[in-house]
Amino acid sequence: MSERVHVLIGEEDIKAKIKEIAEKITQDYAGTQLTLICILKGGVIFMVDLARQIKLPCAFEFMDISSYGNSSTSSGVVKIERDLDAEITGKHVILVEDIIDTGRTLSRLKEHLLAQRPASFKICALLDKVERREVPGIAADYTGFVIPNEFVVGYGLDYSQRYRNLPFVGRLEFL
Ligand code: IMP
Ligand code: MG
Repeated sequence: MSERVHVLIGEEDIKAKIKEIAEKITQDYAGTQLTLICILKGGVIFMVDLARQIKLPCAFEFMDISSYGNSSTSSGVVKIERDLDAEITGKHVILVEDIIDTGRTLSRLKEHLLAQRPASFKICALLDKVERREVPGIAADYTGFVIPNEFVVGYGLDYSQRYRNLPFVGRLEFL
């Protein structure tokens, strides 16, 4: 099976949106120190671009979870493969995700991270497939773009480990 990529959100639109979110975060957390938690691997590109626009001290943490395997449909099983290096107790935490789909991943992660009692906890997602939500109450505090229920790649997101390095978000058409 082969695929074709159609641009859904262009590079310049992503850049502008990230600047906007970063300015909001800089205001909201003025005078504090942040811990940004990146969910590997999809969140990497978003997090580094976002972090560079936040005008506050930021610590980086990385977590790896498995839920999708190599297919494009959710397995519903979320397993933590790599946990935080440092404790987040008493820290101001923003979880940075590439995309919220069913919300299962975030629901599990949120529970896991809140158990460490951070001073505050917010979710920042570049993309949100709102209509696919299966876990009620899971929403991003900072959202880049709400997108329709289509499989997307690029800007960190993959299909079988491909397309992560595209500078835009594209809709994947299966031919
Ligand atoms: P959720 O647990 O269903 O919310 O799934 C979230 C995770 O599924 C994301 O962090 C992505 O890794 C993956 N995912 C969901 N939708 C897409 C998509 O359209 N393209 C690529 N990965 C996706
Ligand atoms: Mg992900």
